Amino acid sequence: MENRAVLLPQTNRDDWGENMMHARTLTIRIMRYNPAEPETKPYLQDFQLTEEPGMTLFVVLNKLREEQDPTLRFDFVCRAAICGSCGMLVNGKPTLACKTLTKDLPETTTLLPLPVFKLIGDLSVDTGVWFRDVSLRTESWIHTDTVFDPDAEEERMDNDVAQKIYEAERCIECGCCIGGCATANIKPNFIGAAGVNRVARFMLDPRDQRTDREYLELVGTDDGVFGCVGLMACDDNCPVGIPLRDQLAYVRRKMAQSAWNLGKTK
Ligand code: SF4
Ligand code: SF4
Ligand code: FES
Repeated sequence: MENRAVLLPQTNRDDWGENMMHARTLTIRIMRYNPAEPETKPYLQDFQLTEEPGMTLFVVLNKLREEQDPTLRFDFVCRAAICGSCGMLVNGKPTLACKTLTKDLPETTTLLPLPVFKLIGDLSVDTGVWFRDVSLRTESWIHTDTVFDPDAEEERMDNDVAQKIYEAERCIECGCCIGGCATANIKPNFIGAAGVNRVARFMLDPRDQRTDREYLELVGTDDGVFGCVGLMACDDNCPVGIPLRDQLAYVRRKMAQSAWNLGKTK
């Protein structure tokens, strides 16, 4: 036991030394733009830094801001793929910067802000306004006539249903599914996969008393679920693996059935 405790750190130190000897010089190409100064034009600025073992884009951007340019703007809160703040285009792919390791990137990496959302500056965008708007438009709360009784025993829910609701609830509102969605990029009011996921969450919930027809009025439009062209970039880009393909299929199927029934009863 004693030998092991001494040998392991030594091996790690050797790895560290070996890594540092072959450290790459990374070029990070970042879009710079301040929308508060509309007379200026967006441009790409190159920064260089030495790669370190275990380095993420979170570390890269903070080092660049601390050591090279304090005016660089980007968002991070949790550094752990939980808060959804750090979504950006990394070499064209929407993803979370804090969970992107530089070892998985080429020597030159281009960082752009997520499209669709309001640009605050450089890599920083306002996803909050967009998500709030979608929450209001999809009426993302339980609709029920049941009066809340604080003394009543909590109602039980089927485990499978609870699990499906939990899956939808895992959305961290990073906006990666929206930034990479062709429809969202050309239709500003499209609710996108994150919006459809939110609708699915309430459709699944047995406490929500809305009928399929009411949901059809809410999202059975070209800005809603029927605007989706189904190429599934959202499913590929979701960094927390929400089954967006299944959610889109579920809501589309329900809405198509509801539209069909409505047509038959007209
Ligand atoms: S499948 Fe639909 S929601 Fe997903 S990226 Fe494509 S158009 Fe957007
Ligand atoms: S569904 Fe996934 S990609 Fe879209 S906002 Fe939520 S966590 Fe991000
Ligand atoms: S900093 Fe929170 S998800 Fe990246």
